Order: sequence, then C-alpha cells, then structure tokens
Amino acid sequence: MSLRAFGPGKVILLGEHAVVYGHPALAGSISRGVTAHGAPARECGLALPAGLPVAVRRQLRAAFKVAAELTGRPAVRVTLERDLPTSMGLGSSAALSVATARLLLQAAGRRARPAEVAHVALGMEREFHGTPSGVDHTCSALGTLIEYRRRPGAEAGRARVVECPRPLHVVVALVGERSPTRSTVAALRARRERWPARYGRLFAEVGRVVHEGVAAVEQGDLEALGDVMNVNQGLLSALGLSSPGIDAMVHRLRQEGALGAKLTGAGGDGGAVVGLFERPERGVRRLTADGITCFTSQLAGPLER
Ligand code: PMV
Repeated sequence: MSLRAFGPGKVILLGEHAVVYGHPALAGSISRGVTAHGAPARECGLALPAGLPVAVRRQLRAAFKVAAELTGRPAVRVTLERDLPTSMGLGSSAALSVATARLLLQAAGRRARPAEVAHVALGMEREFHGTPSGVDHTCSALGTLIEYRRRPGAEAGRARVVECPRPLHVVVALVGERSPTRSTVAALRARRERWPARYGRLFAEVGRVVHEGVAAVEQGDLEALGDVMNVNQGLLSALGLSSPGIDAMVHRLRQEGALGAKLTGAGGDGGAVVGLFERPERGVRRLTADGITCFTSQLAGPLER
C-alpha cells in the first residue's frame, strides 16, 4: 500500500527574526508545499534524486535519520515532491519536515496529530537550521494562520489559531537569490550581541506591531494590517535584513494596490516578498507579464469561489 502526506509552506506576515528572541509572530500556511510519497520497502529509507549537491544530500539524510529514529524506523521508502521554491523564505525545509514526519508516523501506524507531527518535524528542522524558533514547522503542521511565540529558554513554542472575518489574500513575489536562513540569523545575532540595547529596542517594537497586526486581523481591518506590515518592513530594514531588490519589489507591490508589503522569512539579499491585497488577481497578472515569479494564496477568512 502506498502512502502520501503533504506539508504546506508558509509566509510570515509579521514578526520574523524577533520571534527567535521570544517575541510573537503571525504566520500563515500557503497552498504550495512538499508532498512525501511512501512505498513498502525492506527498511526505512529516503530516495533522493540524482544531481543534488553533496552538502544538500548529507543534510537531507541527517534530517531523515532523526525523523526515522523518532518514528521507530517504519519499513517504507520515501520520495519527495515539491512545488515550493527552496531557500526563498517560504518554509520549504519545514514543509519537507512536516510531510516526512506525517508520512513516517502514518507508516508506523501512529497518530499523525499536529503535536506529534510538529515534534518529529522539529527534530528535522534542527538539522536544517540549528536553533529555529519553530514558527515555520508549527505553522506547517497546523496548516492555518497562527500567532506563535516561544518564550526564551522554552523547548517548544505555543501557537494560537487566528481567525479573520474577511478573506485574507496575499501575493508572494520572488526576488533573486539569498543566503541560507542559518547565516542570516547568525549575522543578526552577532550585531545584536555587539549592540544589545539598540537591537533589543527594535525587536521589542516588532513584538508590539505583531500584537497590533493580530488584533487587526481579528477585527477584519485589512487596512490596519497592511499599515502594520509596512511598519514591520521598516523595522526589518533597520535590522539590516532588506536589500535594494527586496525594497524595489515591496514598492512595486504597493504600486499594484497592496494594502501593505514586506519581505517574508529570513530576508537578506533576496527571497520572497509578501503583499496584502483585497483583490490579488490584477496584481499577479501585471507582475507575471513583467516576468516576475509570483503567486497568490488565501491565508484566512471565508473562502471565495
Ligand atoms: O526564511 P525562512 O523560511 O527560513 O524563515 C525563517 C524565519 C526566521 O524568523 C528568520 C528564523 C526562525 O527560526 O524563526
């Protein structure tokens, strides 16, 4: 019997990086992600496509080993299929971890509830990112819009589902290449250690705007949420996480009618930029016509047909 499990990617609407230091973040799962396929086998294993760089292979195998151990090494051969760009801030490693965790739990005949899936996925995420805040895999395991917070020193964070009375649509646009999350987080950590008071103030302000943004979502006040996203982009820029390419895309999305726009994920030289739209279709058409890779996703609210 063959098995199949999906892990969605995510966008962080508010609060990336500050979430590493114990502040809240608002993140939503998207329709794109990673699907894990499982076929019966003599032993538990991961089949990787040819041509992957050695370092990527090694990391994938190490992460898979962690998940296999945590699930009792069920006899299944796993292959992965993704429709999410990697290393662009859309949580591709978390999506891969959640899809793999869900599949191995199923194959082991165990319950694949979000808490169990998140526990196994966290083990994998640590192989990919070192010390992740946990927002990516928690959002992927729950598959919805969440407010997430991991208090300093806590092993795991806590998530709360955030509901919106209006449809919450975003456009995600991709800009150039970027460094791995691990190195962007490490460089920011070094700046914070050198100048703790200044960086502490910026992180605290990110935490405050996240609270305001969550309240705006719950009230269905998309204009206020858009404004909070713009302010969050300013703070990310002050933290040294934006770039000319990201800034240009943020402005382009605003020109196309975004209520707010900002980088999403770790940022750096490039990556994904997210814009909040009441009606996203026209923006996507115009960006696509200009050769920009982009797509739309609904993060919360009543589904529109
Ligand atoms: O760029 P991504 O998808 O890896 O997002 C990372 C989010 C950070 O807040 C920058 C790091 C973390 O561990 O939360």
